[in-house]
Amino acid sequence: MTRCLLAIESTCDETAAAVITEDGKILGECIATQTELHEQFQGVVPEIAARAHLERILPVIDTAMQQSNTSPDDLAAIAVATHPGLPGSLLVGLSAAKGLALAWRKPIVGINHVQAHIYACGMGLQDSIFPCVGFVVSGGHTSLYHCISPTDWNYIAGTIDDAAGEAFDKVAVMLGLPFPGGPALSKLAEHGDPKSIPFPRPLLDDKTRLDFSFSGLKTAVRYRIAGTGKQSWNALALAPELRANIAASFQQAIVDCLVGKSLQAVKKFGVKRLCVGGGVAANREFRSQLTQACNRQKIELHIAAPELCTDNAVMGALAWEKIKLGQFDTLDLDAKPGLLRKGQ
Ligand code: KG4
Ligand code: ZN
Repeated sequence: MTRCLLAIESTCDETAAAVITEDGKILGECIATQTELHEQFQGVVPEIAARAHLERILPVIDTAMQQSNTSPDDLAAIAVATHPGLPGSLLVGLSAAKGLALAWRKPIVGINHVQAHIYACGMGLQDSIFPCVGFVVSGGHTSLYHCISPTDWNYIAGTIDDAAGEAFDKVAVMLGLPFPGGPALSKLAEHGDPKSIPFPRPLLDDKTRLDFSFSGLKTAVRYRIAGTGKQSWNALALAPELRANIAASFQQAIVDCLVGKSLQAVKKFGVKRLCVGGGVAANREFRSQLTQACNRQKIELHIAAPELCTDNAVMGALAWEKIKLGQFDTLDLDAKPGLLRKGQ
């Protein structure tokens, strides 16, 4: 009998479950995305997300379990992402995990979704990625952490307004691109000149802080597209070259901020590794420019595999680290939607 873990993820708009062995082998995995439900609103609608999770959570878990060819008896525990995330979405995954833990008489382990994004960088590697600076760049987060071990970490800094992925999504809407905007915008950017428009790099030159700010950049893009004062515009009427140049220049401004601040954090905390996860870490330009910068500065870089950058349950393998330490939770485990600043 292989000891394995059932991990459940429902923090935002992906319903996911995975069955993972102690040595990180994925025996079963299922992800139900909700893009088709949110695209007409050009963003995730929390109430719709929660209702969709409710419909999908049990079939998704069932599929992962069947694929794994294991039975509940083989499970060492049930892991579930309890924070941070959308409150309604978190509660669906947590309730399912609690119900199954009770029915199958299994322990439950709550995990931090943001730390799981960082943990994903080390999956499949022989050596540990800790200690490191962990960097999560997604639709909800642009956060830097000093990670001493998988379960012991401190928040360093993050965005003071929009997350990087959120800025990608909102600028994509301004450019008339489909939801989710990040992948569509980066495709359009391939046809543009990243140096053509000098968009601002907010806080990049402020060496006294490691925070990010993207709302001013977003406004600068809006003014470049439509001028000041206009409430609506037809982005598709822009010259194709200008549209691509705006996309490329905006993407470059974001990438400069992400690369600059994360390297600054590595230097400040005196670690040798940088580990990057979250949806925006799937961005090709970001991956390639960060790799070049880390090579130049002799920083060991681990970016999660593209399929592990966006939300998934496989990264819930983080729970094994808590199981090894005997850190189980009880059935009064609660969802904590906000960002935590410290973990142990
Ligand atoms: O980690 P994730 O799946 O969900 C959150 O926890 O937010 O990240 C989703 C975000 C979205 O904002 C999406 O536009 C962005 O990641 N994203 C990208 C790319 N792929 C996904 N942004 C830029 N370039 C990409 N290739
Ligand atoms: Zn995420």
